[in-house]
Amino acid sequence: MSGQLDSGDVARWRRDWNAMMHHYQPGRDDLLVAIVAAVEELHGRAPERVLDIGGGPGATAEVMLRRWPDADVTVLDIDPVLLALAEVALPQVRAVRGDLGSAQWLTSTDGPYDVVLALMTVHYLSEDRVRDWYAEVRQLLRPGGVLLVADVMRDPATEVVRRSATGPDPWTVWWRALADVPPMASMLRARAAALTGLGSAEFVAPVDWHRRTAQRAGLTDARLLLQRAEHALMAFHRPVERR
Ligand SMILES: C[S@@+](CC[C@H](N)C(=O)[O-])C[C@H]1O[C@@H](n2cnc3c(N)ncnc32)[C@H](O)[C@@H]1O
Repeated sequence: MSGQLDSGDVARWRRDWNAMMHHYQPGRDDLLVAIVAAVEELHGRAPERVLDIGGGPGATAEVMLRRWPDADVTVLDIDPVLLALAEVALPQVRAVRGDLGSAQWLTSTDGPYDVVLALMTVHYLSEDRVRDWYAEVRQLLRPGGVLLVADVMRDPATEVVRRSATGPDPWTVWWRALADVPPMASMLRARAAALTGLGSAEFVAPVDWHRRTAQRAGLTDARLLLQRAEHALMAFHRPVERR
């Protein structure tokens, strides 16, 4: 499917994706810098194997590869169109389809990984699924491996004052722009059929909830690496078991 896409279009869509994500995730550049620094500090060296969960068109994967060109990077996502963009732009990346809606996604992976990332992905899942997801990620991490989670983390009861917006939101604008290019139109139809009934749970919990939940799932050393407004970046470790 991705073979029909023009690499110039793909480059433009991925650039626009980053701009669009900056809208939803203010401070995204600082976050990516913090992720790279945290991996090098916590892992102690360049990672050999990285899994980006809900990695979309591979924006984070690209940053990882720029920093660690020899790393074996896998992007896992449910969205066939986003995976196709990652495949065209980053042929060295393994782009795999998986649905985090159940533990079945683990069969699309081949751990262990040194680093697992999830940026703006866990809020798509229900609270129960996020709980199980932490335990599932633990299974995939090498002992001593690092999990980085960036998402909206706040008390769900906190009222958030939103700026009033006119016109369609940037997410909708980005998806509409893709439909203007003929080979993409058929891919978008296939996507719509493949993702029928799927949506975001818009799950939000405070930093402490993530800390406790990850701990119960057997992950340790929870650290809050960055917090900007309602966005947070957290790191966790799979401990090395000593006999
Ligand atoms: C807001 S985007 C963030 C993408 C990427 N992490 C980034 O920061 O550029 C959320 C991603 O999660 C993926 N996603 C949502 N629900 C999913 C599910 N059930 N299984 C796998 N991926 C999912 C979406 O397809 C999308 O690529």
